[in-house]
Amino acid sequence: MNIVTPLLESEPLSLVTLKEIRHDARVRTYITRANEQMKAIGYTEHGHRHAGIVATISRTVLTNLGLSGRDAELAAIAGYLHDIGCVVNRVGHVEAGAMIAYDLLSKMNMSPNEIATIIGAIGNHEEPDGEPISAPSAAVIIADKSDVHFTRVQNPDPTKFDIHDRVNYAVQKSYLRVDAPEKTINLELEINTEHASVTEYFEIFVLRMVLCRRAADFIGCKFRLRINGINL
Ligand SMILES: [Fe+2]
Ligand SMILES: [Fe+2]
Repeated sequence: MNIVTPLLESEPLSLVTLKEIRHDARVRTYITRANEQMKAIGYTEHGHRHAGIVATISRTVLTNLGLSGRDAELAAIAGYLHDIGCVVNRVGHVEAGAMIAYDLLSKMNMSPNEIATIIGAIGNHEEPDGEPISAPSAAVIIADKSDVHFTRVQNPDPTKFDIHDRVNYAVQKSYLRVDAPEKTINLELEINTEHASVTEYFEIFVLRMVLCRRAADFIGCKFRLRINGINL
């Protein structure tokens, strides 16, 4: 029996948008199930809220710096999909996520060139092995590490909070300010030090902040962290 598979290359390529990604039934299911898995192992929220925030911030970082609309759209898509690999396992979610995105985006007829940008951004979003390798990848790193907030804690029992829970729980307000004329990207946090000390915050965030600095450098900016009004 001969099975004729239509050639992907013969189909028209599509300029996929974040809006389509957000409404795609497979994306919705995998991100929902990824977060269920994170909740089951006591991890912070990695669902549609986190995906949406990272997508929005990734886009904003690039548009505020005057980068092209399509780069910003690709950053937003990569931002939305960056943790989709948690549907497989938290360990290896970076690589798994890139492969899932490859499959989803190929089926949506995105160009291989754009898929490469997105899977490269997903594949490089975590420390210690991630590196900023493109403007969208740099934006996703900064956006992802900026999403620290008490609402992300899913562990219902404060007596069983780990350091990730405590550090997120302590953050009452977080704001990422991109100052294009000054070429600075500023993460401003308000921390309730009853829940986590600034030192504890640093213990967990030092590697993330180093990666944010590298990402900001990649797009020609300096990264600054300000906690409770103090520049660190
Ligand atoms: Fe991640
Ligand atoms: Fe994330």
